[in-house]
Amino acid sequence: MMILGLCLSAFLIGRPNGENDQQSKKGSEVSFAEDLFPVIKKYCAACHSQEADHPSGLFMETYEDVMGEGRHGKAVIPGNAGKSNLYQKLLPAPPFGRVMPPSRRIKLTPEEIELFRRWIDQGAKNN
Ligand code: HEC
Repeated sequence: MMILGLCLSAFLIGRPNGENDQQSKKGSEVSFAEDLFPVIKKYCAACHSQEADHPSGLFMETYEDVMGEGRHGKAVIPGNAGKSNLYQKLLPAPPFGRVMPPSRRIKLTPEEIELFRRWIDQGAKNN
């Protein structure tokens, strides 16, 4: 119970609620087009494409695709990486299925994974 309480308060305190808070904690703003999309193209889009008729139902060829729904619903909950499959699937022990990308040899760097988290927590903008 104690532990649950601690986690909960960390979660509440950790939520962005002011400009200052956001600036200091998250650093500079991540650009979808310039920072994140190249990473998605490099690691994700080949499988998550219309052409590949991807089984997850989630495509990643455009911003609109990424914001769309896969078999498990919306992959991105703007402002909440902790609830976003797009980010959770990059971490060990994802909520379902395998860690992305599903390959032992290909791995994102911690910095690349962090880009996903920051972009979602900053509102998942088309910027
Ligand atoms: C080699 C092909 C392949 C690559 C590359 C790949 N994925 Fe996937 N992805 C899959 C498969 C297959 C599934 C369905 C099974 C599962 O959920 O583990 C899936 C499922 C998903 C889902 C769940 C969608 C839903 O609603 O069910 C997300 C989110 C996802 N992938 C994100 C990513 C991201 C982000 C990348 C790039 C870092 C990536 N994937 C790269 C094959 C791939």
